[in-house]
Amino acid sequence: MCGIIGYIGKKEALPIIVEGLKRLEYRGYDSAGIVIIDETNTPYIVKTKGKIKDLEEKLNFKKIQGTFGVGHTRWATHGEPSDANAHPHFDCKKEIFVVHNGIIENYSRLKEQLQKEGHRFITETDTEVLPHLIEKYFKGNLEEAVRLALKKVIGAYAIAVICLKDPEKIVFARQSSPLIVGLGKGENFIASDVPAILGYTKKVIYLDDGEMGVITKDDFQIFNLDNQVVSKKSHYVQWSLSQAEKGGFDHFMLKEIMEEPGAIQNAIRGRIMLEEGMVKFGGLENVIDKLKNIDRLIITAMGTALLAGRVGEYMIEEYAQIPVEIENASEFRYKKPMLRKNDVLLAISQSGETADTLFATKEVKRKGVLTLGVINVVGSSIAREVDAGVYNHAGPEIGVAATKSFVSQLTILALLTVFLGRQKEMSLVMGRRILEELLKIPDFVKQILAKRDKIKELAEKYQNYQNFLFLGRKYNYPIAQEGALKLKEITYIHAEGYPAGEMKHGPIAMIDKNFPSVVIAPKDSVYEKMISNIQEIKARKGKIIAITTEGNIEMGQLADDVIYIPKTLEMLTPILSVVPLQLFAYYIAVLKGLDPDKPRNLAKSVTVE
Ligand code: AGP
Repeated sequence: MCGIIGYIGKKEALPIIVEGLKRLEYRGYDSAGIVIIDETNTPYIVKTKGKIKDLEEKLNFKKIQGTFGVGHTRWATHGEPSDANAHPHFDCKKEIFVVHNGIIENYSRLKEQLQKEGHRFITETDTEVLPHLIEKYFKGNLEEAVRLALKKVIGAYAIAVICLKDPEKIVFARQSSPLIVGLGKGENFIASDVPAILGYTKKVIYLDDGEMGVITKDDFQIFNLDNQVVSKKSHYVQWSLSQAEKGGFDHFMLKEIMEEPGAIQNAIRGRIMLEEGMVKFGGLENVIDKLKNIDRLIITAMGTALLAGRVGEYMIEEYAQIPVEIENASEFRYKKPMLRKNDVLLAISQSGETADTLFATKEVKRKGVLTLGVINVVGSSIAREVDAGVYNHAGPEIGVAATKSFVSQLTILALLTVFLGRQKEMSLVMGRRILEELLKIPDFVKQILAKRDKIKELAEKYQNYQNFLFLGRKYNYPIAQEGALKLKEITYIHAEGYPAGEMKHGPIAMIDKNFPSVVIAPKDSVYEKMISNIQEIKARKGKIIAITTEGNIEMGQLADDVIYIPKTLEMLTPILSVVPLQLFAYYIAVLKGLDPDKPRNLAKSVTVE
């Protein structure tokens, strides 16, 4: 939610900041702004409602010369998207500029106080209290003023601050919202996320909560809010710039779906010991003894990651015989869960920054439970919070809709099933069987992707329906929910995902010729039950798009349209069945002229509760 970039060096700051904002746009895209300071110490501020392309239009190739500045792309929390509410925000004298990601929870009390003291506010944002507070404490040193101001603030923030009276530096701070420092030669950066600066440096420092600092063109320093210097290690980022670009595809979403075979391979690579029917997770080695005594696994996550966890529940309970509970992180945090000694928490998150998942993890960790993570973004907040974990290595996922991260999460959950199961009752034969089948999955996904034109045709045929029901059972019940989530998220078509058995308990009332159902019915242990549900829909004249196993002739006679997926183990079918659903949603969005990478009202990484 909201993207921040700051640059200080010898180059022109404007193109670097605008390019960085484009790479951060997945974090929020309802308004944007920049401030660049030129060599005469004059600030150039451009702010606009809309996307980065609107900002570029407003800049209209203006030659704004200056070698340091900050930029922001916004996802509104307080105050509607407008030119005025766009960041940067400034103080009364227009000398202190702040960009902010997060929410200042005590802003109204601070604002009231500042107004009484004579500060003038011109926006509806919570952020605007920051430049005024900093102004209040400024005595010539920006770091000190920011530090004193932040001591008064309650909430979540990643901020970058520039001040004309203490120039040639950018001061920054982090509390519950991500921020990194990028280190270059004769230039330094700050950013919400790595892709923003990948074109310039791969050497980064991940800030922790309660840390702040300052960059100049040649130096940096990090300290805490008590003014104690904190020594931090820098990390080398493995991602390449091309991974963070569209590479000839119209949208990141399609590119990322097409990358799924590679994402699955990356999740598997180096982790399978086929002979032994075992799995090796380097990141879990330190906690292996504790995992041998696990009594219950609690999986927490949000959105698509939560649905991956739900598939994991079926896998782990069936094959590893460990009880699993799924907890929506936003609810879990506020529950009074009955935690036991040998419980283990598993947080799943692509971004590693989802606030609900992070806070739920912190709360459970505080209660003494072992916490694990399945995380894609290296060095992210949840990755650093958990006791141990597994990285997805899926590469950057820029499209707001989670796609390749989902199949990667499912792959890791299948590996985890073998990892945990083999420490309990799972036989060598069963361990090998699952792993052998898993190794075939990347090719199976390639086969589905090769037939994407067929799914495009279906998208053309069904694009004008207003409602869809998605149905599945057992392993494919969460996939029904994921199919519905993808469709509503990027096409704004109403869709619901249900366990097929639930249909008769209410949703069937909606079925008629205008209400199609997408039925996920591979040839598995619940196939016959799915056929009964299909008959029930047909009896009410509902149209049916079915996803089933290759060679299933019967389905051709029952459903209006059929998408075939290769035959695999029942527990692995979700990794295949979800792919056509992602493509179906993608093509409908494109046909409707919508941007699937930036669906309305959404942001990639939800860093506020
Ligand atoms: C899925 O398409 C969504 N964008 C969303 O549900 C997402 O999966 C959720 O916000 C969790 O994100 P995370 O994996 O980064 O924690």
